[in-house]
Amino acid sequence: MSACPDLDVLRSELQERGLRRAELADDPFEQFRRWFDFATEVGLHEPEAMIVSSVGDDGVPSSRHVLLRGLDHGFVFFTNYASHKGRELAARPVAAICFPWNLLARQVRVEGTVERVTPAESDEYFATRPRGSQIGAWASDQSEVLDGRASLEARWAAAETRFAGTDVPRPPHWGGFRVFPRRVEFWQGRPSRLHDRFRYTTDRTVGTEWTIDRLSP
Ligand SMILES: Cc1cc2nc3c(=O)[nH]c(=O)nc-3n(C[C@H](O)[C@H](O)[C@H](O)COP(=O)(O)O)c2cc1C
Repeated sequence: MSACPDLDVLRSELQERGLRRAELADDPFEQFRRWFDFATEVGLHEPEAMIVSSVGDDGVPSSRHVLLRGLDHGFVFFTNYASHKGRELAARPVAAICFPWNLLARQVRVEGTVERVTPAESDEYFATRPRGSQIGAWASDQSEVLDGRASLEARWAAAETRFAGTDVPRPPHWGGFRVFPRRVEFWQGRPSRLHDRFRYTTDRTVGTEWTIDRLSP
């Protein structure tokens, strides 16, 4: 049973209506903004949540949610550069992203190259975070093994004491990544598994021409 009958009705309407080639924006960022704004307007929970996959030295992919925090000529998210994902993205600067908007029978996939954002961009975003999250960025060796929750809480308390009465600076190991897409796919679920899929492809990253193909579902 669904918690949100309005989204159930809307999802059925979207499935009936489908996605037509003629209505697509020429640019995938514009198309993404349309779908993202729509998901936000209809109250989808955390439409900015996206699954980012990186690739390890052994060729094995690894996926986790992060939050989309910027959209310009790339998809920007913030994390710990020394984390599992941070190390993998540094060693192999490619990523795949999936926006799992399944409550709308929609999915957006992005694949491309990855670069760190500038330190100034990371500083700017870090400054907007709640103080508890800022302290948490100092307290957590993200992805490392912990001997218990008490150690984490002790590290948090130590960081809180360290920065008492001052602004919390951005840790040097914390910042953003920008994913520059080479491929972006918009998927709209349809009845009888005759889904609509459109893939934008480019060879270059910025200021670019995109080819749009309809893919078999
Ligand atoms: C909805 C959601 C949003 C998240 N957003 C972030 C984020 O923006 N940055 C981040 O580092 N971790 C975020 N996390 C936690 C990650 O999924 C993950 O546990 C963490 O980054 C460690 O991943 P790693 O060990 O693969 O590096 C989020 C988790 C969820 C469920």
